Amino acid sequence: MIGRASDVNIKIRVLTRLEDSWCSRSITTFILNFEAKTPKINSNLKKERTMRIEKAKRIEQIPPYLFAEIDKKKEELRQKGIDLIDLGIGDPDLPTPKPIIERLKMAAENPKNHRYPSYEGMVEFRTAVAQWYARRFSVTLDPRTEVLSLIGSKEGIAHIPLAFVNPGDYVLVPTPGYPVYRVSTIFAGGTPYFLPLRKENGFLPILSEIPEKVAERARILFINYPNNPTSAIAERPFFEEVVAFARRYQVIICHDAAYSEVAFDGYKPLSFLEVKGGKEVGIEFHSLSKTFNMTGWRIGFAVGNAEILAGLRRVKTNIDSGLFQAIQEAGVEALNHFDTPLPEIISTYERRRDILVKGLREIGLEVDKPKATFYLWIQVPSAYTSAQFTALLMEQAGIVATPGNGFGEAGEGYVRMAMTVDKTRLREAIQRLKKIKF
Ligand SMILES: Cc1ncc(COP(=O)(O)O)c(C=O)c1O
Repeated sequence: MIGRASDVNIKIRVLTRLEDSWCSRSITTFILNFEAKTPKINSNLKKERTMRIEKAKRIEQIPPYLFAEIDKKKEELRQKGIDLIDLGIGDPDLPTPKPIIERLKMAAENPKNHRYPSYEGMVEFRTAVAQWYARRFSVTLDPRTEVLSLIGSKEGIAHIPLAFVNPGDYVLVPTPGYPVYRVSTIFAGGTPYFLPLRKENGFLPILSEIPEKVAERARILFINYPNNPTSAIAERPFFEEVVAFARRYQVIICHDAAYSEVAFDGYKPLSFLEVKGGKEVGIEFHSLSKTFNMTGWRIGFAVGNAEILAGLRRVKTNIDSGLFQAIQEAGVEALNHFDTPLPEIISTYERRRDILVKGLREIGLEVDKPKATFYLWIQVPSAYTSAQFTALLMEQAGIVATPGNGFGEAGEGYVRMAMTVDKTRLREAIQRLKKIKF
């Protein structure tokens, strides 16, 4: 007998269709025979019903995304009614400037923008990027071959190893560092080789410490200045050393410059492409996220060596279908309309930085005053690990910070605070901190 109603329905429907046919009788016989066998199949199916979902090995190798885990903990505390001051994630609280929003509104009305965008980005957007690079860094870029739009720079960073890394290759990854460098390496079947960023070296990697055998098998070196999470900056001699290293070992340089436009006291970070030979050996990732308070819009770009960008483009054309054109038009507005860094944004962060650094030092915590990024990289008191201190801050003061070891082992002993809440809340954070003993 057929056990399930759906089986009965299928049979009846088939028989009805065949009714008028000259061979309906013989086919009906066949169906009845088939029906006789069906109960056995169904009972086997029943036995197999429990589904086991097994993850791929590459997923097993990576921990859940750091900030997704912190979000869970925050939600738990919020449910308990705790008023959290969230200095955890680097997501600007300030709004996107008005002209950019207005341009999006107009562009969203245009039916031309409702269709698939081009893979590499609109010519207008890529031209605006090239013109911005010329104005800001005096770097010349060909918009056709040396600029590629990205759905946020995270997307490009996540895809680049797929283009250049074979299983068994090394990728040189700073630790502590933005977690995506490591994860994208693993997704491509590569092996991350970690370069510790230590305070005594100004949080720059020491390239001469990389064993010869590793350097020879390395395909990509990720660097990121101004740096997340340490807020360190890099100057020209370091970039020159990186170019020499790249040439010697034939390693592609991926410089993540997401924070190049968040710098203080008149300081203007360099582009890696300003350095002689930079464009020959590498590319630079950029983002409108932090420069124009556009994290939610998902718009970024990669610039530099045309061959390297062609590899990234090949991966992307097979995975995504480009960036919503209305957002690209808004990006054109941002890059053409404003001189960067945007003074109002910078002065807001400067004020916040001064309040927080002063308050933390008064409490006895050790922290450098950053020249760039909206992060403070704070040493935890010696009695605590990063995780213990983060838990203490969250549970006793309702302050969310990010444990340094979440950015890699070498981040142990630190916590990161993002200055992405207003002055009043920062002052309150300091008052709350003064009440806890550590
Ligand atoms: C160092 C660094 N690179 C890249 C990104 C990604 O930025 P987006 O994808 O918003 O451009 C971030 C975001 O926090 C970051 O901190």
